[in-house]
Amino acid sequence: MTRNNTSADWWKQAVVYQVYPRSFYDVNGDGIGDIRGVTARMGYLKSLGIDAIWLSPFYPSPLADGGYDVADYRNVDPRLGTLEDFDAMAAAAHEAGMKVVVDIVPNHTSTEHEWFKAALAAGPGSPERDRYIFRPGRGEHGELPPNGWKSTFGGPAWERVADGEWYLHLFAVEQADLNWKNPDVHEDFKRTLRFWSDRGADGFRIDVAHALAKDLESRPLADWPDDPDEGEPGDDNPLWDRPEVHEIYREWRQVFNEYEPARFAVAEAWVVPEHQWMYASPEELGQVFNFQLSNAGWFADELRAAIEKGLAAAEQSGSTTTWVLSNHDMPRHPTRYGLPQVRSSVHHQLVTDWLLRDGTTYFEDRALGTRRARAALLMELGLPGSVYLYQGEELGLFEVADIPWGELEDPEAFMSSHGDAIKGRDGCRVPLPWAATDPSGDFGFSAPVDHERAHLPQPAWFAEHAVDAEEADAGSMLWFYRRALALRAETLTVTGDTSLEWCRGYGDQVIAYARPCAGGRTLTSVTNFGDAPVELPEGEILLASAELLGDRLPTDATAWVVR
Ligand code: GLC
Repeated sequence: MTRNNTSADWWKQAVVYQVYPRSFYDVNGDGIGDIRGVTARMGYLKSLGIDAIWLSPFYPSPLADGGYDVADYRNVDPRLGTLEDFDAMAAAAHEAGMKVVVDIVPNHTSTEHEWFKAALAAGPGSPERDRYIFRPGRGEHGELPPNGWKSTFGGPAWERVADGEWYLHLFAVEQADLNWKNPDVHEDFKRTLRFWSDRGADGFRIDVAHALAKDLESRPLADWPDDPDEGEPGDDNPLWDRPEVHEIYREWRQVFNEYEPARFAVAEAWVVPEHQWMYASPEELGQVFNFQLSNAGWFADELRAAIEKGLAAAEQSGSTTTWVLSNHDMPRHPTRYGLPQVRSSVHHQLVTDWLLRDGTTYFEDRALGTRRARAALLMELGLPGSVYLYQGEELGLFEVADIPWGELEDPEAFMSSHGDAIKGRDGCRVPLPWAATDPSGDFGFSAPVDHERAHLPQPAWFAEHAVDAEEADAGSMLWFYRRALALRAETLTVTGDTSLEWCRGYGDQVIAYARPCAGGRTLTSVTNFGDAPVELPEGEILLASAELLGDRLPTDATAWVVR
């Protein structure tokens, strides 16, 4: 048990490791990772020094969107295992002192969900249809969609069914948006929250938490602009970040509080920073992902602003903030940091374009990307709040940018309306390499000698990042993660003190802050973005992300100094 995990609000200062189950470890040899794979690797997870594991969806799903198209919220996909496998996994995690967080996808169900099938069968105007958002079309015969809204993945957000009505899908066609004005929807999700809580889930990650409440009544649908920008919140936006969404989470809080300790949730809400804190309030979910760190380029001012905003939002919410560098939806950060840097206002789109557009060649400086990723990790781990890590970042994996079209799985690759061929998010979802040399050809991803091909192709360079190769190399990313996580727990988290003081005076190319640490001492974290080495404060060097130049910190490096 990590010491942090013994308290009821363990999640406020936790290190949570995201498992993307289909790509973690495959025990049964079908080329898809499974729940038993997570159990089998519990020792590895424990050895990282994390507090919790978050599993991306493992529910029955046609996999139109990597499992975020859920066909049955209270079951396990047979390809990934059984409910008993989940129970065994949760028990093993708890035994090893780790918490379990599961993903809840409340904005939409798979079109294979029994509710959606019933809605199709029951026809227009039925109570079954009212659980989703069905509308008549425009045009003489209703042949035009109700309005011009676009799906996040590209293409129209409305799909016509056989009897002529249209249903709303803000994501893939196979993901039908639920109607959160329907009481059945509320009851069913409360049941799901209790179901997994009863089975050992300690918390929840809430998918697209800002989209549930929609305004489809206050004006004719056709009057809304085609593209209600996700970044523009408020009453005037019919889809994203509407004030009523918070009523849902206040209702869920009652469910969380039925448990001892109370469950928590972390919202995935791509909303303006000024609105983020509401989702995290103690009356609602407890935490919200702060994506500003991952959105920022490798610029001291942008990263400092991201940290400042995250801390301010946490204070406003009465909770703690979260820090994220990578997840299953964005290009891996060692790749992002190894590309020419652009300002964050354009960063996300540009990086996506560079990386994912078919046929683009780009220059990725891997040594630089790795060096900065190490520096970023130490800077991130020294901060108060929870850190969410994404599987494979501890191995220093880069984005796999050259997956052939025929092997891609991500709907973003197929539905792209960007006018270009965007290859989507599969490049960060490639099955993990566990063994550098494996005659069976999948770097130890599948346990049986005879197995199906891994569901996404792994590049040859995965060998250098395989767990066994990194285990054997004291200078590896893996050992750096373990060391840094252990030090965070022993020196920072243990104090329970979440204060942070900025150390000014280093100039604008340095991010430096000081935190109270164990033994009544102070830990100073210094990150150097400038070309010239900087003097470190006096004290004991606890850890540095790169070799120091005497007692000076070189560029693109972080050091923790204690005194
Ligand atoms: C979230 C998930 C993403 C998924 C989308 C639709 O953004 O993180 O992977 O495609 O929701 O469910």
